[in-house]
Parts: sequence; structure tokens; C-alpha cells
Amino acid sequence: MNQCESMKGKTLVISGATRGIGKAILYRFAEAGADIAFTYNSNEKEAEKIATDVKERFGIRAVAYQLNILEPETYKDLFKLIDEDFKRVDYFVSNAIISGRSVVGGFGPFMRLKPRGLNNIFTATVSAFVVGAQEAAKRMEKVGGGSIVSLSSTGNLVYTPNYAGHGTSKAAVETMVKYAAAELGEKGIRVNAVSGGPIDTDALKAFPNYEEVKAEVVARSPLNRMGLPEDLAGMCWFLCTKECSWLTGQTIVIDGGTSFI
Ligand SMILES: NC(=O)c1ccc[n+]([C@@H]2O[C@H](COP(=O)([O-])OP(=O)(O)OC[C@H]3O[C@@H](n4cnc5c(N)ncnc54)[C@H](OP(=O)(O)O)[C@@H]3O)[C@@H](O)[C@H]2O)c1
Repeated sequence: MNQCESMKGKTLVISGATRGIGKAILYRFAEAGADIAFTYNSNEKEAEKIATDVKERFGIRAVAYQLNILEPETYKDLFKLIDEDFKRVDYFVSNAIISGRSVVGGFGPFMRLKPRGLNNIFTATVSAFVVGAQEAAKRMEKVGGGSIVSLSSTGNLVYTPNYAGHGTSKAAVETMVKYAAAELGEKGIRVNAVSGGPIDTDALKAFPNYEEVKAEVVARSPLNRMGLPEDLAGMCWFLCTKECSWLTGQTIVIDGGTSFI
């Protein structure tokens, strides 16, 4: 039996899968046969389009739900809805990230940082991971275990202009992942992070210095290219397979070699 077959009948819950990295992760798991419960924030139309597409292409179950990670406690209501639509939860990927007005004061040079923006990023990155992972773990325990993955970024390893707020919260979520792994292992639940270098997504295109960042990444990477959403999606999927059954509490860095050079 190959790994694709092994995800049949299992369920992935993933936040923020309407575009970018989350969408690539959703498709990777759908291709492997997993049923998918995924969230959007404002883009309901795109979410419905994706649900219809994966159901038709892969013969799986897929349902889209609205979620705002700035209100992490609402994960509890989300999981109650998921309980009605899906029999089990096996994998949880905390992927969604905020942008736009809610990161004002959090995304910018150090001297312009403000507590409100910083707190919003922390809430959306760390607190949302905590509540989502807690709810997922309760369900995983009932089926004998599971795998949880948080997205992170190398903005906590490499200086990235304007990224102090996100980089600091990503460092925090990586530490939270280790604590969760230490305490959930006895329930058969593994917890890891996937940390990406700059990946060509809408989120990155919104950076005021996108072209500059892109040129720098291509120049720094021995592989001579930007990262793609699929580069991170493959690792999220791999971490949820049996191949990784003794891998927990780790951050896997996928950055095209850019953080060494
Ligand atoms: N892009 C990069 O260079 C990069 C590199 C390394 C790691 N990462 C990490 O990878 C993850 C995904 O990044 P991305 O670049 O793919 O992001 P993105 O393209 O900006 O997509 C963000 C996703 O989050 C959802 N979202 C936005 N605001 C939300 C809110 N308030 N509540 C709940 N969901 C919300 C969006 O839904 P709607 O479409 O409905 O608004 C969308 O599905 C993040 O954790 C990011 O930090 C990104």
C-alpha cells in the first residue's frame, strides 16, 4: 500500500486554504485521498469553488467553513460543525495568516512597531494555533492519534525587512509546537512546524519590496529560484505520513538553502 492510499477515510482540518500555501497543502492531501475540512476568512466563493473541484477530481469529502483567527476561541464552534460533517479528525494544519489593516503596527520597521499590531499577529499565529490544535487533539485522541503541523517562516532566522512582528510570533509558535509535542506524544499525536523561506504567493506580492525580496532570494539560493507553495505542501503531507512516525517537536526548514548562505 502506498502513502496516497493510506490517507483514504482520514480527515485533514486546515485553516486558510483559499490561496497560496494553504491551497497547495489542501490539494496535496486531497490527492492522497484525505477528506478535507478547510477554512476561509472572506473568500467564500473561492472556497466553494475549491471544495467542488477537489470533490469532483479526487472523489473525497470537502467542506469549507468561515473562520477568523483573530478570534481563536471560535475554533471551538468550528470543530463542532466539523463533528457534524466528518466522522474523525486525523491531521490539523495551522496555516492561515492575517494581513492588511489588522497587521498595521506589526508589519513594519522596528521603530514603528505598536503593541496592537504585534498583539494581533501573536493572536493569529500563536493563540489560534493553540486553540485549533487543542480542539484537533481532542478528536485525534479518540481515533488513537494524529499529526499537527504549524506553518512557520525563516523570518525568525534571517533578517527580513518589516517582518519583526511576524518573525517574533513564528519563533513563539515554533516553541509552542515543542511544548505541544512533549505533552501530546503519549496520546499518539505528533506536532511539528514547517518553516518556509520566502514563497511566491499573494502574501509576498503584497510586500512593498516584493521585487527586491524575490531577486535577493533567487540570488541567495543555490537552487536559483523562489520557493513555491508546493515546496511546503509536500513537507506538510510527509509529516502526516507513517514515514515520520518518530518525528515530533521539530521545525523543518524549507528555504532553498537561503538561510545558510
Ligand atoms: N508567503 C510566504 O513567503 C511564506 C513563507 C513561509 C511561511 N509562510 C506561512 O505560510 C502560511 C500561509 O501563507 P500564505 O503566503 O499562503 O498566505 P496568504 O496567501 O495570505 O493566504 C492567507 C490565508 O489565510 C486566510 N485568512 C486571512 N485572514 C484571515 C483571518 N483573519 N482569519 C482566518 N483566516 C484568514 C485567507 O483566507 P481568505 O482568502 O478568505 O481571506 C487565506 O486563505 C502562513 O502561516 C505564512 O506565515 C508564508
